[in-house]
Amino acid sequence: MSQRKIKTFFIRTFGCQMNEHDSQRMRNLLVSHGLRPAESDREADLVIVNSCSVRAKPEHKALSEAGRYQRERQNQGMKVVLAGCVAQQSGKQILRKAPYIDGIMGTDAVVRLPQLLAQVQAGKGPVIDVREHDESNPCFVPPTPTYKPGISAQVTIMKGCNNFCSYCIVPYVRGREASKPCADILAEVEQLAHAGCREVFLLGQNVNSYHDPSGMNFAQLLQAIDQQAAVDRIRFISSHPKDLSPSLTDAMAKIDRVCEHIHLGLQSGSDRILRLMNRGYDAGQFLEKALALREQVPGVSITTDIIVGFPSETDRDFQDTLEVVSKIGFDQAFSFKYSPRPGTAAARMPDDVAEPCKAERLATLQDLLSKLGDDSLARLCGRSHTILVEKQAARSPEALSGRTRCNRVVNFEPQSGTQVGFLAQVAIAEVRGHTLWGKEEPEPLLRS
Ligand code: 5AD
Ligand code: SF4
Repeated sequence: MSQRKIKTFFIRTFGCQMNEHDSQRMRNLLVSHGLRPAESDREADLVIVNSCSVRAKPEHKALSEAGRYQRERQNQGMKVVLAGCVAQQSGKQILRKAPYIDGIMGTDAVVRLPQLLAQVQAGKGPVIDVREHDESNPCFVPPTPTYKPGISAQVTIMKGCNNFCSYCIVPYVRGREASKPCADILAEVEQLAHAGCREVFLLGQNVNSYHDPSGMNFAQLLQAIDQQAAVDRIRFISSHPKDLSPSLTDAMAKIDRVCEHIHLGLQSGSDRILRLMNRGYDAGQFLEKALALREQVPGVSITTDIIVGFPSETDRDFQDTLEVVSKIGFDQAFSFKYSPRPGTAAARMPDDVAEPCKAERLATLQDLLSKLGDDSLARLCGRSHTILVEKQAARSPEALSGRTRCNRVVNFEPQSGTQVGFLAQVAIAEVRGHTLWGKEEPEPLLRS
């Protein structure tokens, strides 16, 4: 079959915010090279599946997703590229399992997407680029000049991870930590602000490990972005509890632009399991840091990730997790059944918690987390909060939607010409489903 010219594309994304952000970067690059987003995957000339390998389920999903287009590929010459963590990790071997792929593009290849695409277009498939970044070539993708960000935009400040938690594939896939120089971050924030963005979300596997070549640390980076004053709000994700320094808690307490939300993965509340996980803290240290945050940063939202059924986890260990979760009262959480990842240290331990037991522990944990989440929402009601307005509310055309400083979505009916991009003072009245609803007020009552 003659080569079909690649004019349109469709990207399917699995996994974390890092992947979401990489997909957005790919979208910008493709648009700046003259391609158009397709209305649907089936109509696209090129489908990119941006995959996640953090657990077995998303990995299988991504591969079966890439396999769905075999007919279009054969009959219409559609091109299919597998990107992201599965691509990076399995490289060439994937072609044995999935010969229906035209390109394999690792996590650090985003910057080289146009070259990869030219080769795919020329029929030189399967094309493989799984080169990893290193200190001298960290492969950060600069924003394209035509990029139109939303009110909130993400900025990658560091990538990779040096922690090697025993269950986690990320250090093997995303490589060692590399930080983007502060001057580049400030230039990117400036460019985003110029294009209408009011809030930046600083992204990294472990933002507290940030250190730019001049020796600047994460708390100092927050200060530098604050001093630049280009945006109203600064957020960040994710933070590792062992590296949560007093200077970061202090920065959150003192810098007004830094919002009161922190994502701190607990993973387990059992000291024995935390040791096996190689997390570098015990439950007492986690509690101490989380409670210090609650005290020093009023209204802070603490969210987390938890794994149940790690090798050898007993009922007692699981009870310890429930206890720590209750004491901290997480505002929101993601929870997972342990899933062995090939090549990790934990994969050499017997996966000995039976599946029904994992399922039962997950259900018990999720019941508790959902109750704590409801309490957290209820605490926001009856108070006035500053909302950064992001968009029209879904299914309520007369209402606007935005987020509190602690990252909760609030819908409200605007009173006085308030528009997307404005900061509005909203008295939160009630919870409908999982969304808060409120009324805009002319003057702030209590700043939150
Ligand atoms: N099994 C289950 N959950 C995992 N996570 C990472 N690796 C695994 C695994 N092997 C979870 C952790 C992490 C989140 C992104 O995914 O909770 O914080
Ligand atoms: Fe994985 Fe641990 Fe690194 Fe997070 S800190 S990415 S859980 S190894």
